[in-house]
Amino acid sequence: MTTTSGATSPAARAAEDFLRSFHDRNPGFQSAGVEKALTRDGRTSHAVLAAHVPGARRVLDLGRADGALLELLAGQGAGVLAGIDLSEGELALARRRPSLADADLRQGRAQELPFADNSFDAVVSHMALMLMSDPEQVTAEAARVLAPGGTPALAVGGGAVPGEGADLFLTPAVPYFRAAPPERGLPRLGDRRTRGREGLDALLSPLGFTALSWRTVVIGMDGTPSEVWSALTSTYYDMEVLDEERTADLRAAFLDRAAALTGSDGQLPCGMRVNVAAARWEP
Ligand SMILES: C[S@@+](CC[C@H](N)C(=O)[O-])C[C@H]1O[C@@H](n2cnc3c(N)ncnc32)[C@H](O)[C@@H]1O
Repeated sequence: MTTTSGATSPAARAAEDFLRSFHDRNPGFQSAGVEKALTRDGRTSHAVLAAHVPGARRVLDLGRADGALLELLAGQGAGVLAGIDLSEGELALARRRPSLADADLRQGRAQELPFADNSFDAVVSHMALMLMSDPEQVTAEAARVLAPGGTPALAVGGGAVPGEGADLFLTPAVPYFRAAPPERGLPRLGDRRTRGREGLDALLSPLGFTALSWRTVVIGMDGTPSEVWSALTSTYYDMEVLDEERTADLRAAFLDRAAALTGSDGQLPCGMRVNVAAARWEP
């Protein structure tokens, strides 16, 4: 949350410190997971998002991490690439990508973009806007840097597919996360409005964004129960609050529940929903 004087609130600072530290310690973890989780038609959620900005030449990625999405956009013809992220560790990985050699990659906050007005045809953000505090400031900054007619394209988490692996994991996991002692607790991340169509519309329409589209895709994280456990536990930041003993207890509870749903081929179905929104900036 940014106050009217522009200062960052203690809650927002705590959330950003956590995210910065987590991604500095685990750079590249998110895009590695994205590569493995495909839609039914065989695409990653990065590819689904990139398809919402066809022909965009100048593209900015908010919460760019290691630059995997920007690399994809370079491959579909974007020639001017920029990205911002809190984490220096992620930035270092992004800088190693040859396709991003000329990209303008910055360490910083999406709430305070170091880019000129009207300088992009598209602003994309994959699984990052939903973690950001003060989304009004982020969307206002997106509007400022987008050229008229430009597109924001946003992917946000839509939750677990009911009755599958992620759902089986979350049911026992949430009480474990909530029971964490305060000194291990996770700061509150993001603003719920960014996760739903109505909330996003309420953030975007007053700024002159029109024609909000909304689509839900399911990405598959199927695998053996142990593989699904690994994939899920590297996806949820909340795992940071559990010590070794509680992690082992939760793993046992998950594997126990998973056994009933695992097929004769040893595979546990595990779908996660991703919501993809796009709009037009028409000031
Ligand atoms: C879940 S990861 C997604 C990374 C990447 N977009 C992807 O999908 O592969 C979220 C990223 O957003 C970044 N992030 C979170 N809040 C941010 C903020 N306020 N400004 C810039 N980056 C932020 C984090 O540092 C992290 O790299």
